[in-house]
Amino acid sequence: MTKEICISNKKDILYFLKTKSKKRIQNLFVEANTLSEKYRKNKVHFRGLIEFSNVCEKNCLYCGLRRDLEIDRYTMTKEEILNAAKFCLDNGYGSLVIQSGEINTQKNLYFLVDVISTIKKEYNLQMTLSLGEMSKTSLQKLFDAGGRRYLLRIETSNEKLYKKLHPNDDKHLFQNRLNTLKNLKSIGYQVGTGIMIGLPYQTYNDLANDLLFFKELNIDMLGMGPYVPHPKTPLYKIKPKLKDAFNLSLKMYALARLFLKDVNIAAPTALQVFDKKGREKALTSGANILMPIVTPTNLRKNYLIYPDKPCIEDTKEKCFNCLNARLRSINKEMGKNEFGDSIHYFKRQKK
Ligand code: 5AD
Ligand code: SF4
Repeated sequence: MTKEICISNKKDILYFLKTKSKKRIQNLFVEANTLSEKYRKNKVHFRGLIEFSNVCEKNCLYCGLRRDLEIDRYTMTKEEILNAAKFCLDNGYGSLVIQSGEINTQKNLYFLVDVISTIKKEYNLQMTLSLGEMSKTSLQKLFDAGGRRYLLRIETSNEKLYKKLHPNDDKHLFQNRLNTLKNLKSIGYQVGTGIMIGLPYQTYNDLANDLLFFKELNIDMLGMGPYVPHPKTPLYKIKPKLKDAFNLSLKMYALARLFLKDVNIAAPTALQVFDKKGREKALTSGANILMPIVTPTNLRKNYLIYPDKPCIEDTKEKCFNCLNARLRSINKEMGKNEFGDSIHYFKRQKK
């Protein structure tokens, strides 16, 4: 029997972020997985990811969809989105994510209100929105239409670092992102945030502070993943200080599980850029959510947030089969036809 690992403060977090001891790291992963299974048994919940548009008004210095890049821009039609949503329903996904770059037009808002209310009425799937920063009024309209969860990564909770990753203008303000997260909570969404791991300038101290930030904000869902340098973006020329974004990401899932306990933690596709079994490793180190891409295959190559993105030649059927086989290999299974909402959200509602 190993001694139970307790992650209750910054010192504990920093210790595990820095340790190179294989045995301690392995124990950390095992304990995080045990806690995940205490909440969810061996179930992993799926959110079908619909990357509905790659249009973006922003110019984040690390992203392959940034405004200044000349890429083929697309927006899916309502019919294409409903078709992807129907696939999720037919295959027992329970939930989907509607994601795009930031498009703050009234036309886009009303398009989304129509699409979301149709999906809710016709398919009753739980919907996560991942559409960037928006006004409180717009976020409320999307909630009223049926959106129940919102993902907005803070990218880093260190404001100084945030400024180094974004253009210096009023479209890219740290404070706006923070306010949006607060607005999402006051509207009643299940709120998810997250960071990139292994960013230029980022330190262990930043990562530890990020976990404290998540606790302080009392978030319900976490979407963290390794930073993948994109050669066509301005940040590419700056090399990260921390090495091994992949293994650091696994540590972050485990630490987040043990520190935040009952939040949903996603195993992002980006892990597979580093390791073919990246997502399985995350799911046995504290993560409990998968987001299989259900975007039509012909559009996937235009949603390259980072280079070497996996699954871009695949069909949604192939992704479904592949992920189920991956789950079997780690003795887990899909939480079929279940929403798999954040347990933390309901606990915080009761308080
Ligand atoms: N590497 C990894 N993740 C990235 N994102 C954007 N660019 C990159 C990159 N180069 C992530 C950001 C954003 C999400 C949509 O994609 O965290 O919030
Ligand atoms: Fe747009 Fe999001 Fe990429 Fe920033 S990270 S450029 S907001 S898609």
